[in-house]
Amino acid sequence: MNTLKNENIDADTWNVLVESAQNACQKSYAPYSKFHVGAAALTEKGVVVQGCNVENASYGLTVCAERNCIAQAVIASETKLARMAIYTKEEQLTPPCGACRQVIAEFFSQDAQIMAVNHLNKFKVWTVAQLLPDAFTPQNLLDR
Ligand code: THU
Repeated sequence: MNTLKNENIDADTWNVLVESAQNACQKSYAPYSKFHVGAAALTEKGVVVQGCNVENASYGLTVCAERNCIAQAVIASETKLARMAIYTKEEQLTPPCGACRQVIAEFFSQDAQIMAVNHLNKFKVWTVAQLLPDAFTPQNLLDR
C-alpha cells in the first residue's frame, strides 16, 4: 500500500486534489448503488474543478464522477486538464471506468497523471496512456 506522505509526487498539489475529490464524494447522489465517488481535476491554468457520480432511477442514465468533473471544467471554459484524483471511501481503489477513460483521453495529455485514492490514503497513479493505450483522440480528427 502506498501513502501520500511516503511518496515524493508533488504532495501539496495532490493533497489539494484529494481533499477536493473527497468533498465532492460527500455530495455524490448514489441512492441505488450506494457507491459514492468524487473526482477533482486541476486545469492547466491551475483551476480545480469537481464532480461526483449522479445516479438515476433509469439506471443507464447514471453519470460517473469523472465525467461530471470534466463537464465542470468545460463549463468553466477549461478544456486543457493536467491531473485528476478519484476518491472513494472503499477499501479497494476505484479506477476510472472504460467510458470515463475515453472522455479523460479527450481533455488530458497522454502523460497526465490520474490518481485513485481512498480514505486510508491508499492510492495508485496511472498516466492517461496507461489507462487507455492507443486511444482515439482529437488528433485523429483534427490533425488530418
Ligand atoms: N462510478 C463512478 O462514478 N466512477 C467510476 O470510475 C466507477 C463507477 C459510479 C457510477 C455508479 O454511480 C457507481 O459508481 C457504481 O457503478
